[in-house]
Amino acid sequence: MTALSNAQAALIAQLRQICGLANVLTHEDTIADLSPWEQDWRKRVHGRALAVVRPGDTAQVAAVVKACAATGTSIVPQGGNTGLVVGGVPDGSGTQIVLSMTRMNAVRAVDPANLTITVEAGCVLQNLQAAAENAGFLFPLSLGAEGSCTIGGNLGTNAGGTQVVRYGNTRELCLGLEVVTAQGEVWHGLSGLRKDNTGYDLRNLMIGSEGTLGIITAATMKLYPQPAAQLTAWAAVPSMESAVQLLGLAHQRLGPGLTGFEVMGQFALSLVDKHYPQLRVPLWKDTPWCVLLENSDSESESHARNQFETLLESAMDSGCVTDAVVAETLTQAKGLWHIRESITLAQATEGLNIKHDISIPVSRIPAFVAETDALLAREVPGVRMVDFGHLGDGNLHYNVQAPEGVDGKAFLRGNEDKVNTLVFDQVKRFGGSISAEHGVGEQKVNKLPLYKDPTALAMMRAVKKALDPQNLLNPGRVLPLP
Ligand code: FAD
Ligand code: MLT
Ligand code: ZN
Repeated sequence: MTALSNAQAALIAQLRQICGLANVLTHEDTIADLSPWEQDWRKRVHGRALAVVRPGDTAQVAAVVKACAATGTSIVPQGGNTGLVVGGVPDGSGTQIVLSMTRMNAVRAVDPANLTITVEAGCVLQNLQAAAENAGFLFPLSLGAEGSCTIGGNLGTNAGGTQVVRYGNTRELCLGLEVVTAQGEVWHGLSGLRKDNTGYDLRNLMIGSEGTLGIITAATMKLYPQPAAQLTAWAAVPSMESAVQLLGLAHQRLGPGLTGFEVMGQFALSLVDKHYPQLRVPLWKDTPWCVLLENSDSESESHARNQFETLLESAMDSGCVTDAVVAETLTQAKGLWHIRESITLAQATEGLNIKHDISIPVSRIPAFVAETDALLAREVPGVRMVDFGHLGDGNLHYNVQAPEGVDGKAFLRGNEDKVNTLVFDQVKRFGGSISAEHGVGEQKVNKLPLYKDPTALAMMRAVKKALDPQNLLNPGRVLPLP
């Protein structure tokens, strides 16, 4: 263990004055295990922090940033640490501060007439959903990690999730931000305005910047009326083409009622069945793909059910659905969603794998999958494809698992780069994006220059330099180190 330099010790003493003794954790003088803040969710990277700092309010965040800026200490903002691209954990240098936002978790205000809720950045998504529901509204952002991810992290990554087809990404749900800049100044941007054309859109610049341009301390988010009824169906489809055809029908028949459209491949579902047999995955054994659809209706349950049944009947007549079940109760519907959301954990339990989070125009997904599957089978024989994702948004988690019986670690060592290049080259050829919703983090930082428009990349560098000239905020994430 290396001893702290005098400057580091002085900084830590200052941070303790700002946030309180108990809210600055270090390896040197606490018995606390810092692993939860230092290791990413997939346990692929374990960094080392100089300290984990847990501010309690915006003024403390600003003071921490000023103290760090004065000593040239870099800061990694962190929410629930559920990110999947290694964006919220420190590097291995032992010189970075992890700024954990989870103590700042208050709901500041609900404005029913403005249809907005203002919360602090460390508010866990599920608590935000519950606060909206208690006030009689819906906050639609929904993802498998909602029990531990925070709204600050959702904004930092511009998270997508399962309701994007109707409500958009986190970006579309945000009307205002409060942000601490890299200089430790506070931008008070919690306007809640739906119209504001007074210059550059700084809110949208911050959203999706993965902690590299500023620290989000609070946000004003949109609320929606709760639907009168929400129905969920699970359909077996004979091919990806059929899944896309079903999506088209669902858009036509359900209109804005279509709030979820997820696709799941047979192998992905077999992993849920293997690791969580109690979940009783329906229909998966006899079909290459299943689709989970959700219909949210503003009229009534019977209206929603009629709409759903008519949709599924015509889908069966046209052959794009071979079998289907519609959940009879809320418990059944939640059970179907739980199966879908268990794929990530089932895949992790199966072993290390190469994850992809890509988007392609929906119309081109069947051809992409067919061609890329064939290329992978040729180049890396025996790999198992764990495909699933948000087909309604053209977003596929096109994941590659080691061949049966092959150790995941050894497989990744020999194949990760080759597989990534093959898949990303295909994504580029099909006009897609190599990161649809998880972000760039550290994981894709070296790939970005190969696949991003060079002019866009140059503008990104210019923005970073202007807002964070000392490169203190999450350096080496999104953009490579200079
Ligand atoms: P963290 O992991 O702590 O941080 C993520 C990034 O945001 C980091 O770069 C960090 O520096 C930055 N950040 C965090 N807080 C702030 C802040 N206050 N200000 C500025 N920057 C900040 N993602 C999806 O998009 N869709 C899904 O469907 C989805 N499902 C998931 C399911 C599971 C089981 C898991 C484990 C993850 C899933 N994710 C999904 C990924 C992850 O949950 C999201 O990226 C989420 O938005 C991260 O939130 P967090 O609070 O955990 O952020
Ligand atoms: C999901 O859609 O479940 C998430 O994005 C997580 C994942 O890709 O595993
Ligand atoms: Zn996803």
